[in-house]
Amino acid sequence: MKKIKIYFFSGTGNTKKAANLFKNEFEAKGVVTKITEIKKDVCDFDTEDCDAVGIFYPVHAFNAPYVVLDFARKLQKTHDKPLFIVKTSGEPVRLNNISSLKLISVLKKRGYDFFAEYHYVMPYNMIFRHGDKTAFRMWDTMKKLVPVDASEVLEKTPRKPRKIPFGGVIAFLFRIEHPAMRVNGRFFKVDYEKCVGCGKCVRNCPMNNIVYENGKFRFNGDCACCVACSFNCPENAISIALLNGWKVNGPYNFDNPCGEDDGSHSRYCKKAYDRYFREAEIKTALQKLDN
Ligand SMILES: Cc1cc2nc3c(=O)[nH]c(=O)nc-3n(C[C@H](O)[C@H](O)[C@H](O)COP(=O)(O)O)c2cc1C
Repeated sequence: MKKIKIYFFSGTGNTKKAANLFKNEFEAKGVVTKITEIKKDVCDFDTEDCDAVGIFYPVHAFNAPYVVLDFARKLQKTHDKPLFIVKTSGEPVRLNNISSLKLISVLKKRGYDFFAEYHYVMPYNMIFRHGDKTAFRMWDTMKKLVPVDASEVLEKTPRKPRKIPFGGVIAFLFRIEHPAMRVNGRFFKVDYEKCVGCGKCVRNCPMNNIVYENGKFRFNGDCACCVACSFNCPENAISIALLNGWKVNGPYNFDNPCGEDDGSHSRYCKKAYDRYFREAEIKTALQKLDN
């Protein structure tokens, strides 16, 4: 492969980190890599001039966010162009295996040849806050895995997630999230007592969904619930309507191996997290042996 196009959607930066790691790996191996953020007004749907396409997204309710599906529906038609998918999610449960089913079916119809999917567990931006110690471990694990996985992509090694019984039906049911989040997004609220007017929420929204007018913030109907606004608000001034009880605010410190641990959440899905880290260690160790 000589040229790869990476498209990524990311609310709070985890998936963007994955996209940048892949880009650096490809470029280190002499592959020209163009990286484009999927946003409401993204205009680059042209994939003619590349040898493979990578689509990167965060798992939302066991699916790709609706903005990623909308983007895929507009991607240029092609014939058997190799496609790989990379996703990040907050938990390593196997149910996340179903999240790309719809995306793959859309892209197959447009002529893309899906051959591999990679899944990295990164700290939650919703539900609860992982401790910085776990965030460090997740980030460290992704950094070790990506060189191995990027080499596989360049060799077009097939890697598909294990199937889940009734996966298509389950994913379909969870896609209620798509219209629900657009409605929920209209009810986001700013606490004007806390707001310092930095405008980060307006600037960072990938959907251009937040408007500041006449001294008030208005949340329109295109919310993808990526939580870029509420997660990055320096004053924790944005409430996310029905999901406010699951809100996570403030960036993670990915560089502190001795940071806080997960506190009362440390037992949640512990087996699945342990399995994820163990499998990652084995994969990277085997790669070292091969070299
Ligand atoms: C609305 C919403 C739904 C989510 N659903 C899931 C899910 O079904 N499974 C999961 O493991 N993580 C889920 N997450 C967590 C994110 O996938 C995870 O934190 C991801 O790494 C965020 O990536 P980003 O920083 O690129 O936006 C969800 C997050 C949000 C905001």
